[in-house]
Amino acid sequence: MSNIDALKKEIVETVQAANDIASLEEVRVSALGKKGKVTGLMQTLGQLSPEQRKEMGQALNRLKDEITAEIETRAALLKSAALNERLQKEKVDITLSPRPQGKGTIHPISQTIEEMIVIFAEMGFSVAEGPEIEDDFHNFTALNFPPEHPARQMHDTFYLPDAPDKKGLEARRLLRTHTSTVQVHVMQEQKPPIRVIIPGRTFRSDYDMTHTPMFHQIEGLLIDKSAHMGHLKGCLIEFCRKFFEVDDLPTRFRPSFFPFTEPSAEMDIGCSREGGELKIGAGKDWLEILGCGMVHPNVLKNCGIDPNEYQGFAFGMGVERVAMLKYGIPDLRTFFESDLRWLKHYGFGPLEQPNPALS
Ligand code: DAH
Repeated sequence: MSNIDALKKEIVETVQAANDIASLEEVRVSALGKKGKVTGLMQTLGQLSPEQRKEMGQALNRLKDEITAEIETRAALLKSAALNERLQKEKVDITLSPRPQGKGTIHPISQTIEEMIVIFAEMGFSVAEGPEIEDDFHNFTALNFPPEHPARQMHDTFYLPDAPDKKGLEARRLLRTHTSTVQVHVMQEQKPPIRVIIPGRTFRSDYDMTHTPMFHQIEGLLIDKSAHMGHLKGCLIEFCRKFFEVDDLPTRFRPSFFPFTEPSAEMDIGCSREGGELKIGAGKDWLEILGCGMVHPNVLKNCGIDPNEYQGFAFGMGVERVAMLKYGIPDLRTFFESDLRWLKHYGFGPLEQPNPALS
């Protein structure tokens, strides 16, 4: 048995001495691999008497577990040290002043959000913001998503590792999948009447021509005692005509479904695709632009507002999507590639104001 103790001591010392993952792997192979020392001892068990075999077998299994645990601990330490070293090495001082020859431009996303804010501000909306790291309650439960709703599943929601002090489904942390979460914060914190728009980053595990894992949305919420679907339509038609700068822009509302609104609708704007070129305005075709509806009474209740006294409407749209339509940008992924040639082409000079609503 003392042989085993000595072997353990020897192997643990080599584990501790391994200074990188590759040498740690060598130590593992030399102890636990096919031709390793511990494996070698295991192979001699057959020659022992039944009692000795039982005792030795147990001791060797224990040794194997102990060494495996030592290696795992050491590997975790080496990995985090390697990461820290890399982070140090790749550190960039973002406070350094820019090179004098470089002229900055305003990113089309910032520009588009700015244009939207100005239009909604004229209608009396103020801007609200909320956290990008959320919990399941604000992202789903409060917004009337049933517990088994597919949108909660891992494939499009980024969940964070469980925090030890947070227990239960509703406390599960995630990156918000929509800006509707901020509706909940606003209603919990403010008394009606409420009239806010909420621009911000959102996150879903998706990547192709029209999806990136991080994208932007702008959300609207209006709560008072008498707001109805007519107000919702008027507000959004006015917004789209101003935003796309087309006075007679055709619009239509189609019935839809969102857990947090009842009734729910999607709004389309008119366009033409003649000759392969997309033109916003009167034409034969329609483009879906946003989701909207009357706030579901359950949502009001979940946020501490009496649905017998108050009602209201909400809407949400993708900022990249409307920016692509307005400025003719074909691929959503290019927004976040930081290609200076792209930024120079699609970005805006600080004094440029492409929307009359801004001047
Ligand atoms: N949160 C929805 C989404 O991400 C968009 C949305 C639809 C927001 C309808 C709303 C709404 O406020 O009423 O797809």
